Amino acid sequence: MAMNEKPQGIPKADRQEKRPEVNSKLRLLHEKRARAEAGGGPERVAAQRARGKLTARERIDMLVDDDSFEEIDLLVETKSADFGLGERYLAADGVVTGFARIGGRTVCLYAQDFTVAGGSLGLAHAMKICKAMDMAITAGVPLIGLCDSGGARIQEGVESLGGYAEIFYRNVQASGYVPQISAILGPCAGGAVYSPALTDFIFMIDGVSHMFITGPEVVKAATGETCDFESLGGADTHSRLSGVAHFVAGSEHDCFRQIRELLDFLPQNCRETPKAVMASDDPRRESDLLERVGELAAGKAYKIHEVIWEIADGHQFFEVHKNFARNIVCGFVRLNGESVGVIANNPKVLSGALDIDASEKGARFINFCDSFNIPLLTLVDVPGYWPGLEQEHGGIIRRGAKLLYAYCRASVPKVTVVLRKAYGGAYDVMSSKHIRGDVNFAWPCAEIAAVGPQGAVNVLYKAELKAAQDPEKRRAELIAEYTAKFASPFQAAKRGYIDEVIEARVTRPKVIRAFKFLKGKKVERLPKKHGNIPI
Ligand code: HXC
Repeated sequence: MAMNEKPQGIPKADRQEKRPEVNSKLRLLHEKRARAEAGGGPERVAAQRARGKLTARERIDMLVDDDSFEEIDLLVETKSADFGLGERYLAADGVVTGFARIGGRTVCLYAQDFTVAGGSLGLAHAMKICKAMDMAITAGVPLIGLCDSGGARIQEGVESLGGYAEIFYRNVQASGYVPQISAILGPCAGGAVYSPALTDFIFMIDGVSHMFITGPEVVKAATGETCDFESLGGADTHSRLSGVAHFVAGSEHDCFRQIRELLDFLPQNCRETPKAVMASDDPRRESDLLERVGELAAGKAYKIHEVIWEIADGHQFFEVHKNFARNIVCGFVRLNGESVGVIANNPKVLSGALDIDASEKGARFINFCDSFNIPLLTLVDVPGYWPGLEQEHGGIIRRGAKLLYAYCRASVPKVTVVLRKAYGGAYDVMSSKHIRGDVNFAWPCAEIAAVGPQGAVNVLYKAELKAAQDPEKRRAELIAEYTAKFASPFQAAKRGYIDEVIEARVTRPKVIRAFKFLKGKKVERLPKKHGNIPI
């Protein structure tokens, strides 16, 4: 065809004269589509609404960009005919799968349809999810699962179990390669919980989502304990006590809004860095509030969130695992438009001490950020590890080591600011210079030492205090002496363990400049299969 010649297309007359079998096949396609898209039918859709839940297709519509969803495998059907399945039609085999755009970026996703056999997972259902997962890996895009299911499809027996295992295997292959997000929008029971557990982030809806290995009746029969779905595996239980859920939403709408917000901080896959946004804030902005925090009396607690807000672009902080192990705070901020993961001790809870839950929470967050090239900012105010029998017997040695391991392994740019206390082993752990913090700052009020002044005086001057005429007066003198000498950042700065003692008010510009400097950081790893994190 010549350059300026317009393509002719099919002449109108020919289009009207389609062969009759083509017309009937088109009609058949439309019928099949309509039947599959109807899900479990009006009655079950009404029951779904009565439970306060949206349908799978409504969920996808609400989550993704307008008109961007491309469905795959709509016409897949189960081969199983046992226990009456042969006489039933299971629309789309109870799961809607495909790819779409969210905020302009491509994702793969699946949404289980509770209106079709309770969203139960048979082999065809599982294979549809697996195909979506394989496509996410091939295209290098995030995978989002919207879960609402009664678990293994009882009629399909062991094939359902095989289907789950295929999903678990892919979750692990995809782990650290593409971000994986699970939203639990109804029941999630038995071994089915392990696919979400293998993903990076779990969202639950307050009062609607439930996750458990065995239900209340089995719990009662096995252990005699009485519970209901909510206390056993509701959103509050899993976000506050078990730490299974990273986010709680008040509604499905709120959940999808949060997923979109989370995705904004993440890259598409491990070969990319997160997209920077246009900086919304002055990178040189100084802070009076941080100056005031830096001037607080040593024992006075402050709100660590306020410190994070002051440092972040636009005072915005997207917190992860907000309700769990609140003695450590993790989440995402932007610094001069770049996505950064923040880990901070929280002096308002357990005085910011590290315990088992905080160590595991921090380690998991650090591992995620490191997998996906998100730099780490660590804000330190830690008196040490939380003491006690419960912690020791619970495995604080083994489980606390995870945080240390995660920091030591992380090769992304790491900037650390010691705000106030950094005592004992916890000083080492919290991204110290020794475990390869790249740029380490301290405020002038920082206290970096082996133990706190009280503890030091009790050990060092035990005999003297016992013999003293006025032990309390003498203790106060000794504490003041120790504090003046050791409870400062200057011993550490003298040895180069702190790169610079900075005024609290300039923390934001200093941190931004440090990350800018570290942009080209590359770390060569030892050639090994993988490390052995203490699990
Ligand atoms: C087949 C199922 C099903 C399942 C629910 N349905 N779960 N069909 N296999 N696992 C069907 C119901 O028969 C019903 O069909 C419809 O879904 C809606 O279920 P209801 O019970 O009416 O809904 P509701 O009262 O809201 O209760 C939801 C529920 C309950 C709590 C999930 O259905 C339930 O307890 N289901 C069984 C859960 C279970 O034991 N799953 C197996 C877990 S073991 P009709 O036709 O009446 O609408 C497991 C192993 C995985 O998952 C191992 C992986 C390693």
